[in-house]
Amino acid sequence: MAEELTLNKTLGKEETYATLLPQIEALNSGENDLIANLANTSAALKAAFDFLWVGFYLVKEDQLVLGPFQGPIACTRISKGKGVCGTSWEKAKTVIVDDVALFPGHIACSSSSKSEIVVPLFVADQVIGVLDIDSDATDSFDEIDQSYLEKLAKMLTQNLHH
Ligand code: SME
Repeated sequence: MAEELTLNKTLGKEETYATLLPQIEALNSGENDLIANLANTSAALKAAFDFLWVGFYLVKEDQLVLGPFQGPIACTRISKGKGVCGTSWEKAKTVIVDDVALFPGHIACSSSSKSEIVVPLFVADQVIGVLDIDSDATDSFDEIDQSYLEKLAKMLTQNLHH
């Protein structure tokens, strides 16, 4: 396992994702415990991008329950269809919110959060959790984040089976 990430803070967003994803893959290879891999993945994303909050919620019965994350303390349970995370779960789709103040039902875990992306994690077409990233600036996320984070989500669940 790689002990340290190689990060170059002068790279743009796309190049940062392109160099980070293989490192996360290497970091998680050889470990099949989901929680351990999600924990290191949140730390790697936080280190590379300095997002306000990055972490995972996992589906447990009829709720999303807080999983590994980096950032300020967060709400622990989210119902299906509630907030950005619950909406992503219900629709089984990535949701990008440019300005959380304009998203009806947004759950404000931190008043510093201004924009957000939530990407579902699938196992056999079922949503088993979501990756949630919050930024302290509006309009932080676009189709570049979506495309790389969806690839990452696939990578994280590829060895899991129901
Ligand atoms: N804002 C999220 C809740 C989770 S926190 O941001 C960490 C939402 O509306 O689902």
